[in-house]
Amino acid sequence: MWSRFFILFFILKSTSCVQKLQEFFEWNIIDFEYPTDSHRTNAILTGKFKPENALPVGIEIWHDKMFISVPRWREGIPATLNYVPLDSPVKNPRLIPYPDWPSNELGNCEHGLSTVYRIKADECDRLWVLDTGTFGIDNTTQNPCPYALNIFDLRTNQRIRRYELRAEDINEDTFIANIAVDLGKTCDDAHAYFSDELGYGLIVYSFKENKSWRFSHSYFLPDPLRGDYTIDKLNFQWGEEGIFGMSLSPPQEDGSKWLYFSPLASHREFAVSTKTLKDSSKVDKSWKEFFPLNERGPNSHTTSRVMDDYGVQFFNLIDQNAIGCWNSQNPYHKKNHAVVDKDDVGLIFPADVKVDRNRNLWVISDRMSNFLLASLNYGEINFRVYFAPIDQLIKGTVCDTTPLNQYYNSKYYVNNNQYFAKFPLQKQYQIFGGNLLF
Ligand SMILES: *[C@@H]1O[C@H](CO)[C@@H](O)[C@H](O)[C@H]1NC(C)=O
Ligand SMILES: *[C@@H]1O[C@H](CO)[C@@H](O)[C@H](O)[C@H]1NC(C)=O
Repeated sequence: MWSRFFILFFILKSTSCVQKLQEFFEWNIIDFEYPTDSHRTNAILTGKFKPENALPVGIEIWHDKMFISVPRWREGIPATLNYVPLDSPVKNPRLIPYPDWPSNELGNCEHGLSTVYRIKADECDRLWVLDTGTFGIDNTTQNPCPYALNIFDLRTNQRIRRYELRAEDINEDTFIANIAVDLGKTCDDAHAYFSDELGYGLIVYSFKENKSWRFSHSYFLPDPLRGDYTIDKLNFQWGEEGIFGMSLSPPQEDGSKWLYFSPLASHREFAVSTKTLKDSSKVDKSWKEFFPLNERGPNSHTTSRVMDDYGVQFFNLIDQNAIGCWNSQNPYHKKNHAVVDKDDVGLIFPADVKVDRNRNLWVISDRMSNFLLASLNYGEINFRVYFAPIDQLIKGTVCDTTPLNQYYNSKYYVNNNQYFAKFPLQKQYQIFGGNLLF
């Protein structure tokens, strides 16, 4: 177990140059682990499995599992929520449906998952999964099922909750592909945030209250000047895409966090306190509690981001085939951003970024724009998973946390063999330190 992981780690440890992302998995085309070969052959013959239609978009790491989501944009996707063992002996493992095959049945609203995008595992060993209930994409979209949050207990692989979003939480344009999970002091004290990219809303779900509510704000809208994209020489326009990628800061002294977000058709970052979001009475009266930060600079559309326990944010830069970083101890400004890795072959459309409990960054790239607007060549590697220890990835960049590390190393506590940083880490001035526009 973990053997390839440790070998990689050793290689990284033993070289001294600036460390970049290391390739961990690679696939030309996605395959699934059927009970037998004849099940698989039969699925292909009957069109239930069309390998060329499968695009992996979201990842999450929990212990020795890497979860991988595959949306049902086209026909022949046998399972939308899957995992592969991290200690797989091969670099292109077949996807194993999670928690099982029946739970991945398209159109089975009560017991199945139709289409899943980003997923999030929390410190209480739960996997948060939003099922959009859809089949298809853009003008082919059908909605056999409602949007529903599914939460799985990762230790028992049982679904422990299903919550359908209320009719008031969505509208006819709703498209939700990103989720952030905010854990408070106890496992019960948990909230999920869903960004409605095309319906322009931010939906909050309280685990304890089993209730949801929806914020609207003009900061969720796309910037009309930022709808043009060129990725891997393909030029296209995604002008209507609003609030998309989100990340949560470490908790502050009062336990609240900052939710950072950005519309997709935008170069700008915004922030709101979770104190605001968790208060359902604020839905209609919190316009001034959302803050604009600076723009990132040219060619900086981003769909996915994550923040580690030290407050370092990583974000995909889809126009640059790159991953960027920002240390939130510094004002949000282009000069405080760095590119931690860039690869014009391997990092074409880095679709998701995640941090594991051992402070490694994971990235999946999937050539999504080529898949959607042109086609993939299945004779080449199309999908890649990369990984790197964060400290080594940001070493020597403006995102480096070395002084912080020294300071906070004394402030770690150990629980259940896991290390947790003791907070407070972020202070109010770190976001208000001149980086807001007013
Ligand atoms: C959907 O849109 C695409 C591209 O804009 C177009 O080629 C196709 O005919 C449309 N399909 C339907 C069912 O409207
Ligand atoms: C949560 O609410 C939904 C509907 O609002 C209900 O179906 C479900 O049983 C509730 N779950 C819990 C654990 O209370």
